[in-house]
Amino acid sequence: MLAIMGAMDEEIELLLADLREREDVTLPGVTVHRGVLDGVPVLLTRGGIGKVNAAMTTTYLLVHGASRVVFTGVAGGVHPELRVGDIVVSTDLVQHDVDVTPLGYEVGTVPGELPAWPADPELRAAAVRAAQAVEGVQVVEGRVASGDQFIASVPGVTRLRETFGAACAEMEGAAVAQVCAKAGVPFVVIRSVSDTADTGADVDYREFMPRVARHAKQVVRGMLADL
Ligand code: ADE
Repeated sequence: MLAIMGAMDEEIELLLADLREREDVTLPGVTVHRGVLDGVPVLLTRGGIGKVNAAMTTTYLLVHGASRVVFTGVAGGVHPELRVGDIVVSTDLVQHDVDVTPLGYEVGTVPGELPAWPADPELRAAAVRAAQAVEGVQVVEGRVASGDQFIASVPGVTRLRETFGAACAEMEGAAVAQVCAKAGVPFVVIRSVSDTADTGADVDYREFMPRVARHAKQVVRGMLADL
């Protein structure tokens, strides 16, 4: 079954409103909504903010039958050409706040794990097609950098660009990726840019997040029609 996940209410509420035959499964810390969206059986959930919540929720989704995972939400743009409203489709994902360098590992690498988790090519292609149908926005395929930090400084953005080659910064995607990769379950992360992760990112985020989060509905619905 296809699972659709966001971190915040704004990222899933429009999809939830259209979910038919809805059944709510209450789990410790998370409610998973089971139902039918545009004729497709899905699991839909708001996982909460940050990598721990994302990993926990992804695990629940897998245990409840998810065979593909689409994560949708907002991000800070890191690629210099990204503007508020643009959409990033993940090529692969890294955890920028992992640092085991004193033991000889590359920055971002969890010992024993991949340095970056690649997204599924088929889901990526479907996400790009669906995102391109959203009017007036640029679609960029690139690396998503996740960490338990809201990035709001020029040095912060520069580090993510120069150290990781990141296209955008957010707080969940690579945790979803790590859990899905362990289970061999295909996934993709789709992010609308709410700010450019530099000075003033907090102001832009508050202003634009609710609006750009709505792109999620369009992209996910486009994917449902296509998959
Ligand atoms: N989500 C949206 N904007 C973000 C930022 N600047 N840093 C981390 N997560 C974000």
